[in-house]
Formats: sequence, structure tokens, C-alpha cells
Amino acid sequence: MVLFGVTGDLSRKKVMPAIYDLANRGLLPAGFSLVGFARRDWADEDFAQIVHDSVRQHSRTEFREEVWRQLAEGFRFVPGDFDDDAAFGNLRRTIEELDESRGTQGNHAFYLAIPPTFFGAVAAQLKEHGLARPEPGQWRRVVVEKPFGHDLASARALNDILGEVFESGSIFRIDHYLGKETVQNILAMRFANNLFEPVWNGNYVDHVQITMAEDVGIGGRAGYYDGVGAARDVIQNHLMQLMALVAMEEPTSFDAESLRVEKLKVLASVVLPKRLDLHTARGQYTAGWAGGEQVIGFCEEEGIGKTSATETYAAVKLGIDTRRWAGVPFYLRTGKRLGRRVTEVAIVFKKAPHQPFSATSTEELGNNAIVIRVQPDEGMTIRFGSKVPGTAMEIRDVNMDFAYGSSFTEASPEAYERLILDVLLGDPPLFPRHEEVELSWQILDPILDHWAKKGRPDAYPSGGWGPTSADAMLARDGRVWRRP
Ligand code: BG6
Repeated sequence: MVLFGVTGDLSRKKVMPAIYDLANRGLLPAGFSLVGFARRDWADEDFAQIVHDSVRQHSRTEFREEVWRQLAEGFRFVPGDFDDDAAFGNLRRTIEELDESRGTQGNHAFYLAIPPTFFGAVAAQLKEHGLARPEPGQWRRVVVEKPFGHDLASARALNDILGEVFESGSIFRIDHYLGKETVQNILAMRFANNLFEPVWNGNYVDHVQITMAEDVGIGGRAGYYDGVGAARDVIQNHLMQLMALVAMEEPTSFDAESLRVEKLKVLASVVLPKRLDLHTARGQYTAGWAGGEQVIGFCEEEGIGKTSATETYAAVKLGIDTRRWAGVPFYLRTGKRLGRRVTEVAIVFKKAPHQPFSATSTEELGNNAIVIRVQPDEGMTIRFGSKVPGTAMEIRDVNMDFAYGSSFTEASPEAYERLILDVLLGDPPLFPRHEEVELSWQILDPILDHWAKKGRPDAYPSGGWGPTSADAMLARDGRVWRRP
């Protein structure tokens, strides 16, 4: 694997530790080799030190010297710029040497952990130096990260750039939510059981809430985040993928093509509310308290302009015009510096059509709900009404809980472990295809255009649950956001 962008957050926090964890679990072949490419004056040992530090800090499995030593034998570093011909010549020689000495046999993955503005330059160099096209019996793959573009037009342009150099089946787009155990479990839960699917439709479901809340701010990512914002960063990819998995019909099998067909049908059926001003909301965090600490507002963060109009909170209401979902709103929300870190999908059911109890008996009975807890506390909760013990007929909500921690002894692997392994195995079901990316932008672009005309987002205090406009958006429909 050749890693571009070795000094970035993604490489250090996710990619390098995941590679070590895979090696530690015995899932990488002995000859696996990692080549770092960056504009640094480093030797192989310096690169190995960087990987070492990142592994010690961020890997999930214990550190074992013998695993590390064997893995590090396959580390190489190539210094250079993306437009430096000689450096790519050097890269080619390094890879050829590894093919010989470590038996990698011409099978290469190029991981572009770099801003999309550089994809074109790197792809062209790889082509130019004969690195993109495999000989018979070998493979070449390219790995890119979301966000895939900035809007529909730029997503298409990016795809064209990569498509000129790599075959479409060799382009692996990472949306790391799809690598999460709990996200894959949505399909297992829906299609392996008979219990849920009969009620999984508009006859029973009132609405769906998909929440990805973070307690952190933007950290050191000002350069990336400003001008991108919460909707592009998260809704266009992670949340729309979650929505597609929740809403899709049963695929004929779990291969990539069958999944894609079903996800595409969902995305193609999405309808926007007519009044975007009433049924979307966006906000930007101001100073406040988060995690017991006083924190600054978004516009005071280092690297962010004082008048930045980038949203750090976004909520949208979407409809899905299919027989199964017509009339059921899907509310998607995400935000930074919210009350706590939680990602969940809540299927909220309609009330029973008739209650043979007095109104006072059911005062504390809410809507039934199935809540898929993606993270943390991975698991699932079913909420329903139960009689409160005693002489009176009083019914109150209770929870039935499934927790990964108590049902399984194995810890869930990190999403990046699974996804990197799948890249190496050439197993594509967990990677969104370009058509899905396009459709997601088609849904989001009108909302982004609408917001762009409206000026600055609403303010919300750090540590809260977003702007009041988001609460008003649900109140208008007679609903409330869950407080996870
Ligand atoms: C990334 C976003 O895709 O997901 C980040 O760019 C966000 O802004 C991150 O913090 C959250 O990932 P996770 O796995 O911690 O929920």
C-alpha cells in the first residue's frame, strides 16, 4: 500500500493504527509493505518512527514488539512533491524493489489521504509512471476518502479525473460509517429476522430520526472544515448512507452490485420539502461548556474567519417517495459541540390506533421506538409501554436493551481495519459507488444553495442540542428531537 498524505490526521489517527491492528490480528500477509510518500526530507527510519508513534497512540490492540518489527521491515519512504516526476520515478523503483524482495507481486493500493485538489496530479503521475494499470494477474486500486467533491458538479469532475486513470471497479471510496459493525448490523437486524420487517414501513412508522452528534469542536481541522460545514462533511455521506440502509428493500444478495441497486433506489426516491426555510435548520456553535470545560466559539477557533458562515450543525427533513415510506419523514441531524457524542437511528412508531385505557393511565406512554445505537454504547433499544406494578392501571415507557458489550466477547474492529482489509481483498460491498455519491449531492445541493442565500447560520451554545430553529423545525410537525 502506498500512502499519500502521511503527515495528515487521517493517516496518523486512523490508517496507520488500523494497519498495525490488522497485522496484530494476523490478517495481513507477511509481505505486506507500506510506502509513505510526502514532501519531507525523511529516510525510511524516520517514516517508521512516525508510524510507530501513531500506532502507540491510536491503535486499538496491544503493542507487540515482534509484530511491529515484522511489519516495519516492509516500510519505505519516498520524498517528493505531487508534481515531481523524479519522485514518482523513485516511487516506481521502490515498489518494484518491494515486489521482488517481499513478494508483493505487482498488487498495489494507492491510498490518497490528501485533499481532493491533489487527486488529479497524483493520478496523472501514477499513470505516467505506469503504476495505475496492472499486468494480467495483478491488481491496482486507488482509495479515496469522503467528501467526494463539494457539490454535484465537482463530484463528477473528481470522478472523471480518477476514472481516466483507474477502472471504476478499482476505485474504492471510503465512507468509514459503512465499516462500522453497528452500521452493517442494520442489514443483519432487518433481513435476518422476521420480527422487525413487518412493521418497517409507513403503516406503522411515524418518522425516523438519524442523529450524529459530536461533543468535540473542529479541533485542528479549520483548514478542511471552514467552507465545508456539517452538511457536506457528514449528511451528504454518513447520514445519507445510514438512511439508505434503513430504508432500502431487501437486496437479492450481499454483493456490492445488489446493495448498490437497492441503495440507489432509496436515494433516487428522496424528495425535499417545499419550504426549505421551514424544514431545514443550521447552526454554528458559540462559546459555552462542553465535557466540563469552557470552550470557545467556532469563529474564535484558530484558522476560522471571524465572520465565517460555515455551519457546524445541520438538520434536514427528507421524504422517500416509495410505497414503503411515502409520508414518513426522515429527519437527519448532525452537529459539533453538542451535549454528548452519540450516533443513533431511531425508528419512531405511530401510537396504537386505539387505547382501551383511561387517558390518565397512558399519560407517560410515548411512541414505541427502535433505537439502533451506532456509537458509543453500541447496541439497540426497543422502547414500549408497560404496566407500572401496583393496583392501578398505569402505563409507562420502558426500554429493552441489547448491548454488544454484554452479548459478545469480541470487541468490534475499528471501521478502518475492516475497510482497509476489504481494499486489499478487493471486496467492494462496503464502499459507496459513484452513482450514490451523485444522488446524495443532488439531494443536498438545493439545500446548500438555499442556505448560501440566507447568510449566517443560527447561533447555538456549545454543550447544547443545536439551534432553536432545529427544535422549531420538528415542533412544526408536532414532533420533538430525541435527547439521546
Ligand atoms: C468524519 C468527519 O467523516 O467523521 C468528522 O469528517 C467527524 O468531522 C468524524 O468528526 C466522526 O467519525 P466517528 O467515527 O468518530 O463518528
